[in-house]
Amino acid sequence: MKTHPVTAALLVLGNWKMHLTQQASLSLAKQVAGEVGSEAAGVVQVGICPAFPYLLPVADALMGSPVLLGAQDCHFKPEGAFTGCVSVNMLADVGCAFTLVGHSERRAGQAERDADVRAKALTAISQGLHAVICIGETAAERDDGSFKDVLTRQLLASLPENTSRDMVSIAYEPIWAIGTGRTPSAEDISSVHTHLQAVLSDMVDGPLPRILYGGSVKPNNALEILSLPVVDGVLVGGASIDPSQFANIIQAATQAALKKV
Ligand code: PGA
Repeated sequence: MKTHPVTAALLVLGNWKMHLTQQASLSLAKQVAGEVGSEAAGVVQVGICPAFPYLLPVADALMGSPVLLGAQDCHFKPEGAFTGCVSVNMLADVGCAFTLVGHSERRAGQAERDADVRAKALTAISQGLHAVICIGETAAERDDGSFKDVLTRQLLASLPENTSRDMVSIAYEPIWAIGTGRTPSAEDISSVHTHLQAVLSDMVDGPLPRILYGGSVKPNNALEILSLPVVDGVLVGGASIDPSQFANIIQAATQAALKKV
């Protein structure tokens, strides 16, 4: 079992959502593995999250590559009578290094609450997986100015106690930016990440967990976002299933990371 294998300064994670066939997943995984050059070694880690049925073949396709395999979700119990669900034990068993938890599409579609997200993160960590905890405000919460309070509340309630940088990352994903082509300004992203760092510093001893940005990350904005001192990576949806766009984002991360270290 791989144990909390996230070590690099910057993470570039691709969330493939409910896209692609098995063949397309395998071919994309091999292309991504081919894009992770030696110059990125140690400073950037790339991860991909295929749909559940394709985790095992993609794990085989990634064999010998530094690309991390991740899941898009997990159940909060390690096993049991939960029809249609997938446990972290199963994810670890097929080679997953990390799992997303609390993506806004699950919070909305499956009515996941912060307590569920927290329980999932805790179970993932206990099985050696790195948990990427997603939080984000709605357009209405951004517009009425309550978004920092909303994010604080989500973070406090979703982050398990006694975590550390190697166990969890936070993905700040404004819901209004996901799949819309709209992103907050660099100043707005910095302001939120700085706020989240302050909240985290009261919750975590030692080095703070990474804070990734997600929501319409594309080749044309990746370098600016990844170069922000308070951004520790990106969670990419749409652009992660386009091999050349994802390759450009990986290159931007390498450039940004080499400037940061
Ligand atoms: P997007 O999705 O890059 O397509 O906006 C991001 C996400 O949902 O994680």
